[in-house]
Amino acid sequence: MDPDRHALLHRNTERSNVLIVALALFQVLGSVLIATDADAAPATDALADIGRILFFDANLSKNRTQSCATCHDPERAFIDGRDNGVGGAASLGDDGHSIGDRNAPSAAYAALTPPFQKNDEGHYIGGQFVDGRATTLAIQAIEPLTNPLEMALPDTAAVIERVQENSILKGMLVAQFGANLFTDAERALAAIGECISAFEQTATFAPFDSKYDRYLRGEYKLTALEELGRSLFFSDLTNCSSCHLLNTSTLKQGETFTNYRYHNIGLPPNMVLRGKNGRSPEHKDKGLSEHPAIDDPSLAGKFRVPTLRNVAVTGPYMHNGIFSDLRTAILFYNKYTVSSAQSRINPETNLAWGEPEIKETIDIELLNQGQPIDDGRARALIAFLYTLTDARYESLINR
Ligand code: HEC
Ligand code: HEC
Repeated sequence: MDPDRHALLHRNTERSNVLIVALALFQVLGSVLIATDADAAPATDALADIGRILFFDANLSKNRTQSCATCHDPERAFIDGRDNGVGGAASLGDDGHSIGDRNAPSAAYAALTPPFQKNDEGHYIGGQFVDGRATTLAIQAIEPLTNPLEMALPDTAAVIERVQENSILKGMLVAQFGANLFTDAERALAAIGECISAFEQTATFAPFDSKYDRYLRGEYKLTALEELGRSLFFSDLTNCSSCHLLNTSTLKQGETFTNYRYHNIGLPPNMVLRGKNGRSPEHKDKGLSEHPAIDDPSLAGKFRVPTLRNVAVTGPYMHNGIFSDLRTAILFYNKYTVSSAQSRINPETNLAWGEPEIKETIDIELLNQGQPIDDGRARALIAFLYTLTDARYESLINR
């Protein structure tokens, strides 16, 4: 059911590279060569085409008001660009009033997150959602359809009914999965998940064309400030790379800026959000230990390290959207490394940072390792993080 998505994604990228080369040759040499790519087109493209329709289909929500794209808007780096009454944090559901407790993360580059698993060192890694509870992208994709806070369809039967309303969509699914697909609701639902995940594995979600990617390919020269930020980010002066780096080689292409592990950085709860969604201020989002298969209090409060790709345009930040500015998200780490009074103050609110939601499991050894981030370093780190913006979102950066 779950093909090796990494291989798949790379295959897709390679295929588009093949296409680019083929097109270039075509211009030079004439008509014959272009046939190469058309011949190679596998069924995954057909699944992705179906997935694209499903991703934008508001009929898949109870009141037909929202699709996946409402909360993962391709024009906004696949986040929820709506205000939602809570400074852009979290999301309004199809019922027009429900608001969850977590911020909608970008769906860009999510296809590169490995399936939920324990790695060789015994640490949990990967999985979709900030607590990893959906092992794969295909499993994740069917959850929002019946989540009462999101698209709110009552059950699988309702999802299948809505999909079959669209005869073109129905025909495309039947052509790929067989005429009897809709006689087995669970199989039909799994097929829907597979198609959406195929769409999410296309280069639309992971173009790898940011300034940073272009720099690695020798097509862009970093400014002095961007270069300073880059060296700070990768050096031992900051501890960013102990969590926000997948590859040990600093010049590796395709870096996703997360090790996919789970850590507690000691964030406070978002009380504005709690005030709006009605959850008790005492409620604790236990992160990884909310995963249904995990019952280990030592993992409470740990959240999967997010990618930093497109972070310039995906605020508000953190699992609960507690920080509006990227600068705040960076200065927060000074809490652990600087003893001055200023480091205890949130520059957005001018108030103390707030008590961590879950204190006991903070990854203090890692967080203590960094050096203070003064104004100059913060500016450089921000300039570097801005270079991780996909080309089509560069115009959204609020400088
Ligand atoms: C009402 C808003 C909303 C809708 C509609 C919605 N999502 Fe989400 N999405 C969220 C939120 C909030 C989260 C984070 C929840 C969590 O981690 O527990 C999320 C998480 C995700 C993730 C995981 C990303 C990661 O890095 O962990 C993916 C992928 C995703 N959604 C894709 C989809 C798809 C596909 C659909 C349509 C079938 C969809 N979403 C519909 C709000 C929404
Ligand atoms: C101990 C591991 C760890 C270290 C060290 C670390 N981070 Fe993080 N970072 C995380 C985790 C985990 C989150 C998500 C926390 C959450 O939502 O609960 C995060 C979130 C972020 C975010 C918000 C991303 C978003 O989309 O919401 C930014 C920006 C960020 N980190 C930048 C940095 C920078 C810059 C450094 C170095 C100065 C750094 N981090 C060091 C683990 C770490």
